[in-house]
Amino acid sequence: MAILEIKKAGDPVLKKVCEPVGHIDKALRKMLDDMAETMKKADGVGLAAPQVGKPIRAVVIDAGEGLHELINPEITFKEGTVKDTEGCLSVPEYYGEVQRFARVKVKFLNRWGKKQHLTAEGLLARCIQHELDHLEGKLFIDVAENLRLREENSK
Ligand code: NI
Repeated sequence: MAILEIKKAGDPVLKKVCEPVGHIDKALRKMLDDMAETMKKADGVGLAAPQVGKPIRAVVIDAGEGLHELINPEITFKEGTVKDTEGCLSVPEYYGEVQRFARVKVKFLNRWGKKQHLTAEGLLARCIQHELDHLEGKLFIDVAENLRLREENSK
């Protein structure tokens, strides 16, 4: 596995609407492995392919209950709203409040091309929505309220 460079806000790849993954192969599985390792090393809870320079629809998430790999994810159900603090590995040190759906169901393909469903709430639901936004070329700073640097927040 390898640690990948995480693209930062301002890089045009983060503004792209990502292409669906058409062919799930060994190279994609290696990329998912590298993304998971990169996310872990950076102490993140989610990472989307465009954040490592690949504008395709794949994300990894670990919100504390194990690794999820979502290929071509689509939200199929959503309900409730909740506002909470978010950050992003592509916007280091910045935090802000973002309103998200409280519960979501998402369908996706796993690394073997098998159709899967996941129902989520809490941090996992928030991570899914944040990462799926990346696939649309959106960053949390586009919608966050009270955007601030970590230092200001910790006082
Ligand atoms: Ni992010």
